[in-house]
Amino acid sequence: DTVQKGGYAHFMLKEIFEQPDVIHRATHAVSEETLPSSLRDAKSITVVACGSSYHAGMIFRYLLEPACGIPVRLELGSEYKYTPVPFSDVIIGISQSGETADTLAAIRKGICNNVRTVAITNVLNSSITRSAQDTILMHAGPEISVAASKSFLAQVGVLMQIVNLLSGRQCIDILDHARYAIEQVLLTDLTDAVDICSSADHLFYVGRGVFYPVMMEGALKMKEISYIHAEAYAAGELKHGPFALLSPETPVIAICSPGQAYEVMLGNMKEMKARGTPIIAFGLENDTDVRDIADVVIPIPEVHPWIQVLTSTVLLQLLAYHTANRLDREIDMPRNLAKSVTVE
Ligand code: G6P
Repeated sequence: DTVQKGGYAHFMLKEIFEQPDVIHRATHAVSEETLPSSLRDAKSITVVACGSSYHAGMIFRYLLEPACGIPVRLELGSEYKYTPVPFSDVIIGISQSGETADTLAAIRKGICNNVRTVAITNVLNSSITRSAQDTILMHAGPEISVAASKSFLAQVGVLMQIVNLLSGRQCIDILDHARYAIEQVLLTDLTDAVDICSSADHLFYVGRGVFYPVMMEGALKMKEISYIHAEAYAAGELKHGPFALLSPETPVIAICSPGQAYEVMLGNMKEMKARGTPIIAFGLENDTDVRDIADVVIPIPEVHPWIQVLTSTVLLQLLAYHTANRLDREIDMPRNLAKSVTVE
């Protein structure tokens, strides 16, 4: 068992630490030559997925639409069956296992309606690869932990590479720096943040733009393995309900990275602080504005926003992992959850 885990206490930690290599493989998994023609020709795209894979699809939508002007419709596998017909000329099904029943059904629905289909999966010869017309393998390697970590990062890497290819390779060099940035954040000491999270019953995760789905994935990790109730909100939605719940007992995890949403996030953090809410903020190490508001700052490297998406994801995985470990949870096999859901 210990040998299989490579000396790590859990498969999940081992898989988190594999991510510098995983991101390198994933971003090289698709090229100009191997990009399915259905994607190259697409005027509109529907993405269908479940769980973490859905969050990867949401990141894709935030990146592709401004880069290429191609509209992306995003659907949960379980809800797609209730929509009448596919609205776009290609459906991408994202599924780590390639066996999720609802995502498979979406691909089959596309085929029945003469819509072209692409599978993004981690498993060669899985059911989705036999249904979809084209397959892109993400090359994350086998993932044992029920909660997705490296497979999610690989999905995002593949999808970022697709954005690169469809938009004329604008950020290709940037992705080559990802592995080094990830290596760097893997060393982060999260003890202070874990102290706060492990004694909370409720946690809120907030972000804006592409960091909103990053936070959704972070909250999902926390729920899955620590059993702490964690909800993600787009920061602008706080005023539309969650503010009624904020108190000194509801810590908030916020991403305040440089860029378009920086000032408004800073404002949101001040509003939360005014309610006595403990704030764990992801911010640049030398950002005194963030430091003045936050109770704990998790330092993020000064890198391109795409890399920031990847490094923040890794930090959120580690935060969930160490919190669950502190609470002595069964991290690799959380109660009531399965690695792949093969029934409707
Ligand atoms: C299960 C797993 C999740 C995963 C989801 C979708 O709920 O526990 O980690 O994100 O299924 O799985 P898929 O294999 O389709 O990506």
